[in-house]
Amino acid sequence: MNTALNTVYHQRRQHLLAQMHAQGGGVALLPTAPEVMRNRDSDYPYRHDSHFYYLTGFSEPEAWLVLVAGEKDQAILFCREKNLEREIWDGFRHGPAHAQEKFGFDAAYAIEQLGSEMPRLLANQPAVFYALNSSRDLDHKLQRWLDAVRAQSRSGVTAPHAAFDLLHLIDEMRLFKDAHEIDIMRRAAQISAQAHVRAMQTAAPGKMEYEIEAELLHEFRRHGSQFPAYGSIVAGGANACVLHYRGNDAKLKDGDLLLIDAGCELDSYASDITRTFPVNGKFSAAQRTLYDIVLAAQAAAIAATQPSNRFIDPHNAAVNVLAQGLLDTGLLKGSLDEVLESGSYKQFYMHRTSHWIGMDVHDVGAYRELNARSEETASRILQPGMAMTIEPGLYIRPADGVPEHFWNIGIRIEDDALLTPTGCEILTSGVPNKADEIEALMRH
Ligand code: GLY
Ligand code: MN
Ligand code: MN
Repeated sequence: MNTALNTVYHQRRQHLLAQMHAQGGGVALLPTAPEVMRNRDSDYPYRHDSHFYYLTGFSEPEAWLVLVAGEKDQAILFCREKNLEREIWDGFRHGPAHAQEKFGFDAAYAIEQLGSEMPRLLANQPAVFYALNSSRDLDHKLQRWLDAVRAQSRSGVTAPHAAFDLLHLIDEMRLFKDAHEIDIMRRAAQISAQAHVRAMQTAAPGKMEYEIEAELLHEFRRHGSQFPAYGSIVAGGANACVLHYRGNDAKLKDGDLLLIDAGCELDSYASDITRTFPVNGKFSAAQRTLYDIVLAAQAAAIAATQPSNRFIDPHNAAVNVLAQGLLDTGLLKGSLDEVLESGSYKQFYMHRTSHWIGMDVHDVGAYRELNARSEETASRILQPGMAMTIEPGLYIRPADGVPEHFWNIGIRIEDDALLTPTGCEILTSGVPNKADEIEALMRH
């Protein structure tokens, strides 16, 4: 028996085919990501499309997956032909025959045959499943293929008469992580945690932000991570108040905090960690006060990250703690209810506490219940197998009425959580987040 038929990828295709049957059957089309030129003769590093890889395990560019949910189900790959000359320049290509065997497809063709095979595959099928309105190129190709099918109508051939959004079906599958994915996500999280430990051990006044970034990248890569999962943020002092800071080119100052938001991608799975720590190894009183508020907010959010709670509950739990902390420190005035009602806390906490995480750092999956009848019941109910970040923060820009000792302090603490039957598992606990533990780590 071909072992490729037992892979997670094969099982996922079977699962998707079953859902296509539930909608009456048809043909699904899914291209992988295009290669993109960065500048003359130099490409951006190639990264396959997440959906495509989720269903195939195949990471070469110029490939399409076609699934036929019909009398006989079929999974068909279109990919690049073997080509000795191109392989000498660019490296190994599986080629259709080898790919079919290795990845367990029912058939495989050269990518050049896509245009001639698709009208045949779409003929007499009731529906087509694809990423609706997501790509002009895909829309255009599909139109040409459907025109070719319709041109045969007088010979009794029918064309699909319905279109369904393929991405929605795969998004929902990917929202629930299987054992294979969880294993990789745990390892990705561990590597990233180690990288943050290394950053804490390396940071010192006078170093440049990019020197610390280099330590993170070194740790990612030496453990086999292929890419950072997103652009690393290494933000000293006031730079931490820029949520998507990208410069990473300032000098670290004695007495400042350093906020690092960085995570590796390992075997197509992201991790996403933020830690904030003192450049000189010791929190000032004002920094410590705000740090402990953010940490308490994260603890409250983690406690609320459990099945049958809603996606919004950890956010609300974090906001409650942050708002109370802002009142206690004099950064906000009024009562807790007033602060929550008016949203005045958003001056210092302006982002959401969580996002799904998986193959994409901001992973797919609806944040709303699909059939919600009211706003109160709209937020997605959490279930085991979902994975999400928990990342409260406080960002204090200089402003009238803001005590000066808090100016330019930016703090975020971010971990990745996997929903379990009883609560959640923190995947990123390999790097400390308590102020005392961070200070202890930095002393060594
Ligand atoms: N690093 C991206 C995020 O935290 O959402
Ligand atoms: Mn995040
Ligand atoms: Mn992050």
